Order: sequence, then structure tokens, then C-alpha cells
Amino acid sequence: MIRMTLDEIAGITGGRLVNATLSVVVSGPVEYDSRRIGPGGLFVAFEGENVDGHEFAGRAVAAGAAAVLSTRDTGEPGVVVEDPLAALAALAREVVARLDGLTVVGLTGSSGKTTTKDYIGQLLAGLGPTIAPAGSLNNELGFPYTVLQATEQTRFLVLEMGARGVGHIRYLCEIARPDVGVVLNVGAAHIGEFGSVEGTARAKGELVEALTPAGTAVLNADDPLVAAMASRTTAQLWTTGESDRATVRATDVVVDAGGRAAYTIRFDGSAAEVRLKVAGRHQVANTLAAAAVALSLGRELDDVAGALGEVGIASARRMDVFTRPDGVTVIDDSYNANPSSTAAALHALAAMAAPGRRIAVLGYMAELGDHEVSGHVEVGRLAAELGVDRLVAVADNARPILDGASEIEGWTGAAILAEDQATALGLVTGDLRAGDVVLVKGSRYRTWDVVDGLRPGATGERSEPRSRGLGRFSPQKGEGRP
Ligand SMILES: Nc1ncnc2c1ncn2[C@@H]1O[C@H](COP(=O)(O)OP(=O)(O)OP(=O)(O)O)[C@@H](O)[C@H]1O
Ligand SMILES: [Mg+2]
Repeated sequence: MIRMTLDEIAGITGGRLVNATLSVVVSGPVEYDSRRIGPGGLFVAFEGENVDGHEFAGRAVAAGAAAVLSTRDTGEPGVVVEDPLAALAALAREVVARLDGLTVVGLTGSSGKTTTKDYIGQLLAGLGPTIAPAGSLNNELGFPYTVLQATEQTRFLVLEMGARGVGHIRYLCEIARPDVGVVLNVGAAHIGEFGSVEGTARAKGELVEALTPAGTAVLNADDPLVAAMASRTTAQLWTTGESDRATVRATDVVVDAGGRAAYTIRFDGSAAEVRLKVAGRHQVANTLAAAAVALSLGRELDDVAGALGEVGIASARRMDVFTRPDGVTVIDDSYNANPSSTAAALHALAAMAAPGRRIAVLGYMAELGDHEVSGHVEVGRLAAELGVDRLVAVADNARPILDGASEIEGWTGAAILAEDQATALGLVTGDLRAGDVVLVKGSRYRTWDVVDGLRPGATGERSEPRSRGLGRFSPQKGEGRP
């Protein structure tokens, strides 16, 4: 965070100074996990469902925290506030207001926000110091937390924006209004909360409504619900996609035997070749959006095309393809799943050369509401249509995937229900051969154990905690945050 005295922090947050003189200065990062606190930092104590951060205030100060932001006096120097989330929001708003040379990039969409945020972060790093932390910090906690990582040196702040209902993105835009706002796609993610894809579009479009005429809206020309958001903004309009009307366009898309796309990127009468390292044809749309952001902020086309050939996904469990010493290839796309992202992953599995068999291990897709059964059935149908050889549904709530596959006439693959992840892992590992390609996907922890067990040197231990968070309108999602 930028340097602030505790007195200023109390003023900004409407809090009460405790155990401190006015001159205490916060000069380090804001953290709500005491294990991450650094010298001069501000430790924020939340009362979580399982853990009360106030109990860690002493440890945070011993680790170097200059002060504590909390809802009660911890005995440590700090500021006591009523609502720490509101306090973080207020601090974040103040930081953005004070940083004159800062460009804020915000992005939303149903799938690919974290992936594309990682790409944008890497492209903008070529223009200046950029904050775009790994992970999915997109809600009312992760968003201001990310903003507060900005310092006087930061030129670009790349912010993922999530929503589970109308007003959520508007709330985030009031904390840090983007100069560039990107909407990737509107699909069935969180449709249980939104009710319909039109409802999702209404909520996601709040991002471009928040932009000023001096701002830039980057919209996906190939997604009708996103393209229609053009009428909701006064910002300068950039579109991306494969359609000929897109400002930044991909043509001649080909996918290699590793499932990686290459294409010609076209912008403003010029063209350049792009060859991606990350698998999945859906990376074309994601990288076009990232390219549009970088181009709109002044990076040259040739330069952007070259950099796109280098970008990777800094966040774990998204299209992470690895080949084991025994010649089995695994696609770890297990961070999250909805029907659109599972379709994208199944297409990637189908596109990859597989001298052996194509195996899909699919878990339950959460938050589909009324679309729950149909969403799973749709995914199963697609898996069968794409000719998956073995389709393993993990746990009974994923069974409709198999029902969907069985609807496809002529499908000769095997449909297997595994009662839990350990059973799925046993079934799959007991039968693997060199040349097989295995896709593992589900909503968060529902298939993490399977893919961790498939990693070379797997110990069977889980690599990420399964915590629920503090979010007011959306639980903080995985990534090991509280
Ligand atoms: N453009 C896309 N279309 C469909 N699926 C995608 C797209 N981009 C990424 N995905 C897939 O969606 C899943 C989630 O990716 P990612 O974490 O980048 O999305 P997100 O929008 O940040 O998700 P969340 O809502 O969980 O924050 C991954 O399986 C990823 O491979
Ligand atoms: Mg995300």
C-alpha cells in the first residue's frame, strides 16, 4: 500500500485509533492472513466462520505489522472499525484517488477472467510496473485487497471483477473505476444466482456503464450478449473476436496436436502471427481481449503478438497440461467448472492428439440452479459427441453427465460413475496406458484430489485448503485465501 499514517487510516475508514500515536506509519502491504504479513504492513482481522483473525493480531505485529485494522481492540496499535470490508473498500478508493499516473483495467465475464487477467498482467508488464496477482481475487474482499497492493510505482492495476447478482460489479467499480473495462463472455456460470443468461448480462454490463467517455470498453464481438453492451457505455469502443467487424481480430485459427491455437492477429490494417503456449481454442478469445487492452494502452501489434507467444497462466489448475514420465498426458482444468468452461475443456481434449484413449473425469458443476440437471446432461452429450473413450462422473450429483452421454446414439465409450474422488482416482490410475490423455474438471475441490493423485510424485495430500470465505455477496473462492 502507499504510505499512510494510522491517523489518516482512521479518518478514511471512520475508525477509532487504539494503542497508537498518530504518527504510526503503514508502509507495507495489507494482509488478512497473519502468515503473509510483511514489515510495515497493515493486518486486517476478520471474524471468519472458523477462525477469528483477532486472535492473530499479536502474531502479525510480531511479524512486522505496523498496525491492525479490526472490529475490537486487540491490544495492538491499530484502528477499530465497524465493518472491515467497508474499511478496505474506503482505503482502496483513497489509494486509487491518490495515484495520479495509475491506469485501472477491470475485467469480467462468465469464464476466463482469471486466465485473461494473468495474460493482461504479463502484456502490460512490458509497458510498466503492473499489479495483477495470481488467483481469483474478484469479490468484495479480493478486489480491494488487490487494489491495496498498488504503490507509488504502480502504473497498471489489473482487476478481476466477479458478480453473483445485480449491483455487485457496480459496487466494485465504485471502489476502483476502471479506465479500461473488458467483458469476455456471458455464459451459464452462477446462473443459479442470476436466473438467466440475460440476468447475467445485465449484471456484467455494469462494468461498461461505469466507464467514462475517456475510458475504453473492450467487448467480445462474437458473443451477442456482450456485443449488445455497446449501447450501455459512453466509453470508446473496442471489439474483439473472429467476426470481421472486430477491432482486434483473429483469422486463420489453427489448433496443433497439443491443443494449442495459432492465429493471425489483425488490428488497424496490420497483421501479425500468434502462436500460443497455453492449450485450448478458447484461449484465442482470451488472448484477443488481452491484446486489445495492451494495444489500447500503447503496445505495438508486433510486440503484442510476440508477447502472446510467451504468456502463461499464473493461476493454478487452469488448462495446466503435463505429461507424466509414463507417457500419460493430464489436463488439470479443475479450478472450476460450468457448462461453457467444461465444453471448452472437452473441445481441448478432443483437439489434442491422443495415441491412446481420451478420458474425461468430470465432477459436479455447482451453482447452476434450475439448470443443474440440464447443464450436466448437456456436458455429457458433448463428451459423447466428441468421442471421449472413457467418461468418469465423480459422485452421484454428477450422474446426469452419464445420462447425457447415453443419449448419444452410436457412442461407444464407457460411462462410469465413481462414488467419490478416491474411487475415481483408483479407477483411472488402474487402467492408464502411455498415450492416454486425461482431462480432470469439476467445481473446485470436487476433483482436486483426483488430479493431485495423477501428478507424478503425488503423495495423496491435498495441495489447496477447502476454505469458505468472508465475502458479503460472494464467498472468496479457493486459492488458499481465508
Ligand atoms: N473464454 C473461455 N470460454 C470458456 N471457458 C473458459 C474460457 N477461458 C477460460 N475458460 C475455462 O474456465 C475455467 C475457469 O477459468 P478462469 O479461472 O480463468 O475463469 P474465471 O472467470 O476467473 O472463473 P471464476 O468465476 O471461478 O473466478 C477454466 O476451466 C478455464 O479453462
Ligand atoms: Mg476467477
